[in-house]
Amino acid sequence: MSNYHIKNLEEYFQVYRKSVRNPEVFWEEIAEEHFMWRKKWNRVLSWDFSKPEVKWFEGGQLNITENCIDRHLYTRGDKTAILFEPNNPDEEALHITYKQLHERVCRFANVLKEHGINKGDRVCIYLPMIPELAVSVLACARIGAIHSVVFAGFSAHALATRINDADCKMVITSDGSYRGAKTIDLKGIVDDALENCESVDTVLVVKRIDSDVTMKEGRDLWLQPLLDEAYVDFSPEVMNAEDPLFILYTSGSTGQPKGMVHSTAGYMIYSAYTFKNVFQYKENDVYWCTADIGWITGHSYIVYGPLANGATTVMFEGVPSYPDFGRFWEIVEKHKITQFYTAPTAIRALAKEGVEHLEKYDLSSLKVLGTVGEPINEEAWHWYDDNVGKKKAPIVDTWWQTETGGIMITPIPFSTPTKPTYATLPFPGIQPALMDENGEEIQGNQVDGRLCIKYPWPSMARTIWGNHQRYKDTYFTAFNQMYFTGDGALRDEVGYYRITGRVDDVIIVSGHNLGTAPIEDAINEHPAVAESAIVGFPHDIKGNALYGYVTLKDIGEGRKHDNVRNEINQIITEQIGPIAKLDKIQFTNGLPKTRSGKIMRRILRKIAHKDTDNLGDISTLLNPEVVQSIMDNAL
Ligand code: PRX
Repeated sequence: MSNYHIKNLEEYFQVYRKSVRNPEVFWEEIAEEHFMWRKKWNRVLSWDFSKPEVKWFEGGQLNITENCIDRHLYTRGDKTAILFEPNNPDEEALHITYKQLHERVCRFANVLKEHGINKGDRVCIYLPMIPELAVSVLACARIGAIHSVVFAGFSAHALATRINDADCKMVITSDGSYRGAKTIDLKGIVDDALENCESVDTVLVVKRIDSDVTMKEGRDLWLQPLLDEAYVDFSPEVMNAEDPLFILYTSGSTGQPKGMVHSTAGYMIYSAYTFKNVFQYKENDVYWCTADIGWITGHSYIVYGPLANGATTVMFEGVPSYPDFGRFWEIVEKHKITQFYTAPTAIRALAKEGVEHLEKYDLSSLKVLGTVGEPINEEAWHWYDDNVGKKKAPIVDTWWQTETGGIMITPIPFSTPTKPTYATLPFPGIQPALMDENGEEIQGNQVDGRLCIKYPWPSMARTIWGNHQRYKDTYFTAFNQMYFTGDGALRDEVGYYRITGRVDDVIIVSGHNLGTAPIEDAINEHPAVAESAIVGFPHDIKGNALYGYVTLKDIGEGRKHDNVRNEINQIITEQIGPIAKLDKIQFTNGLPKTRSGKIMRRILRKIAHKDTDNLGDISTLLNPEVVQSIMDNAL
């Protein structure tokens, strides 16, 4: 018997031990007892981190949408699968049952097929948080097409880069989106992006805001009439366990975004198993994750994990501040939310607005609270615990990554005693290691180091789309035979893990991963800029904000520095998106460099952190004199 549902701490330790002693038996039991297969596998796991190559359930065949939808039809056909809460609180929420979801996904799958999409083709989805987003993801999975969801806050340039990298044949978008009191012209952004994309033949457009958009003849089609005409059933494509399910881009410290490729069976099993346990989901619960499906959290814990468990999952179109800062709590009360999963940046933003926004609402339905995306500071943790959970709903601080596909280090609520700012213990099947600078594993407790994982788990990304070498270089070369996460962590006296932050040039701003190099590349496109360097600095709400040091050539006669500041942020918005805008821009006469010409970010980071008492030895720099002037003019 597998231990699919862990109910207490003793059981956790027992299950964990089993998962480490005999991983193949452990995962095989779960795969066999809790999922629907078309054909059984020949081999549970084969792996070699030096290539790197990892395969789970090879020879097995299945379709993930049969597991997420069809198998629930007899027992839960009339249960709400997706509960859609619109941006506007006066617009009625929509309950989509499992039966209705089945029909919607099948119709959509037929439309995709009729428009030339086949197994293995890539489809880019650029949609707001409306039901069509989840439905299009599932429709791709049903026909075996590889979805690439791009968060609808990315710019045309960023969208085009992602469409081209994956050679997408189709884009699914909407006329526009609601965001609080504003609307955003998504179709216009897609049109701009497609000026530079050769591979796209068809654009399917959802009508959401009823705006005037230009439809390009022969390329753009309104979705609804096609769905209305489509057949209501679709026999799912039988997929191999290791067939790619989706690509999802994440920032790297250098160069292009990385298209992380996730496989079908391993991803399904791990996202489902973690969902069940990390949220302790019970049959009539109403689970809400506030993330966007444009990020991995939405893929695993709005769509696949919950639906694979036959859960009710909420999709919220709006923002926490509209029409006021009580919106989240109003939704919790209205739908009697039982599990609530959000990001530390949202908690900090809401805490700042004061408890009066919460006090108006009944939050007593909440059983489990979750956080993800960045380290949660102690103050925010306590605010969440005291005011939202009223000290009765355990907080699960879940550490994981786009690359890991599912939650890796987390408490199991009602089992693992929580500790503020600690993600606590590894989930069953996960074998973390802390490594020192010499590549040796650090044993024992009360230690800190670089966080690695030493054994494969089912939902790990299998490669970077089109660039396996980069996959190997980024994750499998820093430490021998280990997956390197890019994070630092410490292990306390009882073996609990606390994630201390990135150890590379990725900065997490409001829970979004941003690589410094792409932002610097964007800034350097400004004609007046000679060079630039970006570092993070602590910010009350965003966790980190961006500080840019920019050396100018000549800004031209009569022009003001503030104009250049605005233009720099404008370029960043166009190239990446507003999330990557700089909070501070300091103009410098030069950047501190090593004798080999490398920018010394360590020094710039200390200046941005206002921590200049101990800058270390700067005498070996190529240009030590610039350091004092940067310090004198720091913002
Ligand atoms: O630095 C860690 C941080 O977010 C990074 C992964 O970002 P992304 O791929 O966008 O996925 C975010 C959602 C899973 C990690 O390398 N991070 C994520 N969760 C936590 C965290 N840092 C501290 N505590 C967490 N709970």
